[in-house]
Amino acid sequence: MKQLSMYKIIEKKKKAKQLTKEDIDFFIDGVVNESIPNYQTTALLMAIDLMGMSAQETAWLTSKMLYSGRVVTFKGDEFVDKHSTGGIGDKASLILGPIAAACGVKVPMIAGRGLGHTGGTIDKLESIPGFKTKINLKQFQANVIQNGLCIIGQTKEIAPADGKIYALRDVTATIDNIPLITASIMSKKLAEGANGLVFDIKIGNGAFMKNKAIARKLSKSIIDTATRFDKKAVTLLTDMNQPLGRAVGHSNEIIECIEVLKGNFLKEDLAKLSIELASYMILFAQKATSLTKARKMAKNSINNGDALKKFKEIIELQGGDSNCLTNYDLLKIAPEESDILAPSTGYIKSFQNKEIGYLLIELGGGRKTQKQKIDHQVGIYFHKKVGDYVKKGEKIATINHHKNQKNSVELLINKFIDKSIKLSASRVDRPTLIYDIYSNQKI
Ligand code: URA
Repeated sequence: MKQLSMYKIIEKKKKAKQLTKEDIDFFIDGVVNESIPNYQTTALLMAIDLMGMSAQETAWLTSKMLYSGRVVTFKGDEFVDKHSTGGIGDKASLILGPIAAACGVKVPMIAGRGLGHTGGTIDKLESIPGFKTKINLKQFQANVIQNGLCIIGQTKEIAPADGKIYALRDVTATIDNIPLITASIMSKKLAEGANGLVFDIKIGNGAFMKNKAIARKLSKSIIDTATRFDKKAVTLLTDMNQPLGRAVGHSNEIIECIEVLKGNFLKEDLAKLSIELASYMILFAQKATSLTKARKMAKNSINNGDALKKFKEIIELQGGDSNCLTNYDLLKIAPEESDILAPSTGYIKSFQNKEIGYLLIELGGGRKTQKQKIDHQVGIYFHKKVGDYVKKGEKIATINHHKNQKNSVELLINKFIDKSIKLSASRVDRPTLIYDIYSNQKI
């Protein structure tokens, strides 16, 4: 048998040649058992970043990363999950999860924490007093089967190869590579056992995908990979040029989700997108025979209270205090308020979402270091969205913070207004919420 070596594998990719399954297996085994030094791992990652990978290589990489850890399996179409590539104020999972489960879908959701300037579902859930996001995989499986939804954080047992590779990509400028992103996302999503996957690929200044062309490439790569693993998949390419919804933070985002589940703000982007994503989940799970019927079911679950009831059940099942659904004082919000006021009269033309993410991090609502504890109480509430008319001095947003942050918040607001909000004297169209939809299914 031919002797494999990392040197030869790196050289092969450097010359833009296709890696074999054996090359990829050798690489990932070496990453997991730490026999390959980080300098060789990062050299290969950079070669992949520069030279690319075929769909077949991407599938081999995904498979090997997937089986580097434990893999949960569920039998049946009804097991469906959703994944978002991340953004600002993106709390849709916490609305669509209860909606889908209330409509009979079984949702095994292993979610992430904040990454870079973007927020994470797990951090948001932890603002509910007592809510446990660490549950062993056996219990996770049982909860999904019995209650239709369980939401836990990433564990070391799930795709450990991705954990190691991601940490190296993060510091070697190899994050924004389509095959590497595909293998990273898919290895984790396939490990949770869902047989249908709904992807929300965010595009814009608050997203990892900055334009439609690159988002379409990721969509194709994800759908190709899902098809090879015999999973139903759909990708919705959606706007991330302003926060999704109105709240950005943690406790405040949970309150916004509860409000939507209570039937409020249903005409706004957050509710619309959550209902749409949940509808694809309902369709994939074969709980409706058409997308139109699935949409009706999703809306009904809000109107008749079933989705809120399901959220209550899941909060209690995972040790949380469900009184927070009626008593928002349990979801602590920092008491001081500072407003961001319109510097002139006009229409809101754009927000720089990345700056909004960094503003939250500066307030303590995001991590500068991996081990930093998040302050769930701080946040930003947007009174205005892109396309809205504002008069000079009118409130665009309100920041909730602590008393001892007053001076630094004033400085942050000044910097933020200059960098992050653009106004136009003429009317501005509201952004399109969903740009494109692709699937390996007939919908
Ligand atoms: N999210 C992931 O899980 N992995 C990536 O590579 C990028 C975004």
